[in-house]
Amino acid sequence: MKPVFFSVLVLLSLINKASADELDHILRNRIEFYNIRPIEKNPPNPNRDLVTLGKFLFSEKNLSGNRRMSCQTCHNPATGTTDRLPLSQSENGKSILARNAPSLFNVGLKTRTSMFWDGRVKYDPKTNVFTTPEEALNGPNPKAREITESLKSALSAQAIFPLVAHNEMLGEVGENEIANAGNNLEAWDRIIERIKKESPTMDPTENYVKLFLKAYPETSEDKLNIGHVGEAIAAFQREEFQSNDSPFQRYLRGNNKAMTVAQKRGFAVFMGRGHCINCHQGSELGKGELFASVATPEWGAAPLVLDRGQGDVLKDIKRNFFYRVPSLVNIKLTAPYMHNGTYQNLSQVIEHYDNVSGMLVSFKISQERQDQMPVKVAVANQQAILDDIWLASQSGLFPELKNRLRLLEREKRYLEIFMEEALTDPKWDK
Ligand code: HEC
Ligand code: HEC
Repeated sequence: MKPVFFSVLVLLSLINKASADELDHILRNRIEFYNIRPIEKNPPNPNRDLVTLGKFLFSEKNLSGNRRMSCQTCHNPATGTTDRLPLSQSENGKSILARNAPSLFNVGLKTRTSMFWDGRVKYDPKTNVFTTPEEALNGPNPKAREITESLKSALSAQAIFPLVAHNEMLGEVGENEIANAGNNLEAWDRIIERIKKESPTMDPTENYVKLFLKAYPETSEDKLNIGHVGEAIAAFQREEFQSNDSPFQRYLRGNNKAMTVAQKRGFAVFMGRGHCINCHQGSELGKGELFASVATPEWGAAPLVLDRGQGDVLKDIKRNFFYRVPSLVNIKLTAPYMHNGTYQNLSQVIEHYDNVSGMLVSFKISQERQDQMPVKVAVANQQAILDDIWLASQSGLFPELKNRLRLLEREKRYLEIFMEEALTDPKWDK
């Protein structure tokens, strides 16, 4: 009896082994086909003074009009570089913004030439031309050339915008001298005047003028401008928020043992029956320059101002409700999900893709979620708007959203395991 029993076990484990090898074979084949390369680490910035300055500025509340908010308030490294809120709260805590704060992982990759969910801050590295919501920075001959000369990327240009958004860091007119400025350029000048008189909150023994001049030895005190702030914060983010050691990244680097069998099966669904790979491409499974509509329900502070994403920025109705395909790096750590925090966990996101129109028309904000919000919220549920949102996702560019995926429960579970476990870098999972 015993030997037979033993050999059955051996045989079973052989079959398991064979299928595990085969799974790797299939996955590696697909990885090659979709050209998914491991995330490349940015080399350390040789200008350490610039990175140090950026670190101080990233958590500096004195950059905000009422000295209450810093970048870190909404992009907290302890909570996956986000605020864990569906929609970020305004500077005074009394209202909410229209969007969910995205994570900042690998935000400094060279491939990122635009910023925000709708790509409204853009940089063309070939021509050094910016396209932003501030005219004075835009085009080949920008009016505020002294500022654009210090900005070297979309990331550095992005950093100067939260400073002049009333509900993000600026505060309201009448509340502080920066918010009282007549326009962005004036507000940015006033921020510089203020910060020159300050010491970093993180290290009161230092002094900002000295730190700026160390980081920018070619510049003099009177030439300092908001571009120097943006570039320093970008240098810090580029280095600090790197994440490339998840099981998935180690698998991409060649280690077949880095992912469990369940994680691998999830990845197979991701590239196969889920069609997720059609949009979530590249090293980070997203956050390139691809924008798409997946018919996410729209909601926000009442009365609702409808957010049409890239369509509003480009004034192009064919792009209505298009948003950047987000990266899935450390996705477990950055709930809630989508540009407006619609979904609270990954299993809801998977349900969304499995039944896009059903999830769209049945979406509601629960009383419990409403209670956590400082203002009354509303869902865009008028039939005409639902039709527009649905049609945007059916534009023909993305045929995978045309039919229900009809994933098996097992496939959904594997997909969730893949996203929750395999995409999480232990360094950030605190
Ligand atoms: C009140 C909360 C809040 C504050 C403060 C804040 N952010 Fe954000 N951040 C957001 C939200 C919300 C978005 C998405 C906005 C959008 O796409 O329209 C965002 C987007 C970004 C992005 C774009 C990421 C991407 O992948 O496109 C970067 C980078 C960023 N913030 C960095 C910063 C920096 C640097 C500061 C400080 C100067 C800052 N944020 C201050 C909430 C905040
Ligand atoms: C047609 C392109 C497309 C396809 C196919 C697609 N996605 Fe997405 N995905 C997006 C876009 C665009 C967003 C952002 C949508 C929004 O904010 O409204 C997104 C958002 C997400 C998010 C939330 C990320 C965050 O940071 O909030 C997750 C998770 C996700 N997708 C997983 C998947 C999975 C799993 C699949 C396959 C079942 C899939 N996606 C298929 C384009 C796509």
